[in-house]
Amino acid sequence: MLRKPRKNFRRSGDPVAAPAPTPVAAPAPTPASAPTPAPASQPEPEPVPGPSGLQSSKNIVAAARKPVSDYAACSGNVTDIYEFQKLLVNGSFGTIYMAKHGWMKVAIKSGPRPASHSYLVVPDHPEPLYREVAMMVKLCRSPVCPYVIQMYEWFDGGDTLSMVMEYPHPCMSLKEFIDIENGLTANITRLILRQLVNAVLHCISRGVFHNDINLRNILVNIDLIPKIKLMDFSSARLVDKDGYDSRTYDGDFHFQPPEAMRDGKYYPVPTNVWFLGIILATMLTGHLPFRLVKDIFIRPLRRLGSITGRCEDLISKCLERNPEDRLTLEEIIQHRWMNFLHP
Ligand SMILES: Nc1ncnc2c1ncn2[C@@H]1O[C@H](COP(=O)(O)OP(=O)(O)OP(=O)(O)O)[C@@H](O)[C@H]1O
Ligand SMILES: [Mg+2]
Repeated sequence: MLRKPRKNFRRSGDPVAAPAPTPVAAPAPTPASAPTPAPASQPEPEPVPGPSGLQSSKNIVAAARKPVSDYAACSGNVTDIYEFQKLLVNGSFGTIYMAKHGWMKVAIKSGPRPASHSYLVVPDHPEPLYREVAMMVKLCRSPVCPYVIQMYEWFDGGDTLSMVMEYPHPCMSLKEFIDIENGLTANITRLILRQLVNAVLHCISRGVFHNDINLRNILVNIDLIPKIKLMDFSSARLVDKDGYDSRTYDGDFHFQPPEAMRDGKYYPVPTNVWFLGIILATMLTGHLPFRLVKDIFIRPLRRLGSITGRCEDLISKCLERNPEDRLTLEEIIQHRWMNFLHP
């Protein structure tokens, strides 16, 4: 079993003052190999320009006098356009900063140019593009989904890549939210699950499989009522109905579906449904349903405490060990527990 290496880093809510990164101008390397992109089945939606306006297709078209894809990096230096204010987190890709452009607060994920296997060939872009950037561009085309974090624009500093993203505040990870609340009520759980299913449906409709949905990759904006933002598309892949080699699974192992260890292949929709089943059980009980790898195969779901029969039915149908027996995303939304006003 492969496991994504996790690095020690600060979590949001624990900021320290930090200098802004200094992007270095250098020629971009040409990655050795890149996967083939998914065939475009629908016309691609209109791009949404970033807050600096520099990525507006009008500006680029005027400058170059020919259409430029919305995958293009923003011109200029990120540090000239954004005022870096504080370091939020040191992640495994790089560093996440809070920054400002005029009155607008943004989060900027900035890190060294990744290794060549992290690139994708995308239409109308002269060279393979960093996978996370490519996925975010697809997801952020209009109409956007309110439950998926937005990337407004990105900068290629040669040695450094910077993604300028929406900064929902105040926010915390779903893990922190569950821990603080010591498990969530049925009504809040239902609300968050509905938002999550919509986020996942949006990803699938744009040809993006997140591949690492877990409690740390979901932000909860706790302004009035909780509103989630699915984020961190660094492990994402293009949707492939033929599935993925299980040896390449690199998500959190607590969320790993049994087929990604047992069958040699795992598939986007049943894997997403498994992720959602684990998250649903954790939101209600305050702890993960499977703590050890062997539990994923043999442990019956019994520590569900006061959870009602309807909800237990939904959890167990999302966590069917055979992926073909699992619910679909639409069936989760239609399940009777999701449409019930009381626990
Ligand atoms: N747009 C954002 N707004 C607010 N906080 C964010 C944003 N993006 C990332 N963060 C914070 O930074 C953390 C790490 O972000 P992310 O998961 O994208 O980075 P990463 O480098 O891929 O790290 P890892 O692989 O360890 O998850 C998140 O858990 C969150 O706390
Ligand atoms: Mg992450």
